[in-house]
Amino acid sequence: MATTKQETSQIKSKERVAERGEVFTAEREVNAMCDLVANECLRPDSRFLEPACGDGNFLSVILRRKLSELRRKYKKSPRDYEKLSIVAIGSLYGVDIMNDNVLACRERLFRIWDEEYTAHCRGEASDEAREAARFIIGRNIINGNALTLMCVDAEGNDTRAPIVFSEWTLIGGTQMQRSDYTMADLLIHRDKEDFPLFAALAEEEREEGGIFLRRHVTHYRNLHKI
Ligand SMILES: C[S@@+](CC[C@H](N)C(=O)[O-])C[C@H]1O[C@@H](n2cnc3c(N)ncnc32)[C@H](O)[C@@H]1O
Repeated sequence: MATTKQETSQIKSKERVAERGEVFTAEREVNAMCDLVANECLRPDSRFLEPACGDGNFLSVILRRKLSELRRKYKKSPRDYEKLSIVAIGSLYGVDIMNDNVLACRERLFRIWDEEYTAHCRGEASDEAREAARFIIGRNIINGNALTLMCVDAEGNDTRAPIVFSEWTLIGGTQMQRSDYTMADLLIHRDKEDFPLFAALAEEEREEGGIFLRRHVTHYRNLHKI
């Protein structure tokens, strides 16, 4: 059977469809689904997880929406735009079993962020902020198996390392707190299907130990240095 133009662009090869079910969602459908949670797509700190992210069709649309809202709000304040655009990048999480998709997704998100950042902050844009954005994307977009919750090797086989997500929280103006949790813990402690990522962990549970793995606080531009 002949394939339409749209179907063709949604698949890379028959083998990949057969092996990994790789059929990408068309932009029209992505936008229609994002419209269902339109306000959440505007908030820089509203978290999204795409558990089989491919090259990030949903994450890239959400990032564009968040950045365009920040641009509208912080036209005259590049510093605020920079800080909140870092929060926005930190709010997007993805897992994919195929390494080339993970690399493509990371690059795509960074390009979108960097183009907007450079255009908006111009002379005030810094390589430190770019490094911080790259670092966050590298941690948030994970080469893993979303069914076993383990990281995978180049062939897509499970390793012994669990998938770990970092929660990025802006505190005290320019300080960013990073708290690491295994994806398994986040799912176990989620008692309702629609709980936001991280929100199901009560503060006392977080402090009891054994749930979050490590925590750091530093200036958001220095995240990649710790
Ligand atoms: C149907 S595509 C969807 C891609 C993207 N979310 C979209 O809507 O365009 C499915 C993706 O799931 C990935 N995948 C398949 N099994 C997986 C697993 N167990 N864990 C994580 N990713 C997986 C494939 O590599 C592929 O990129």
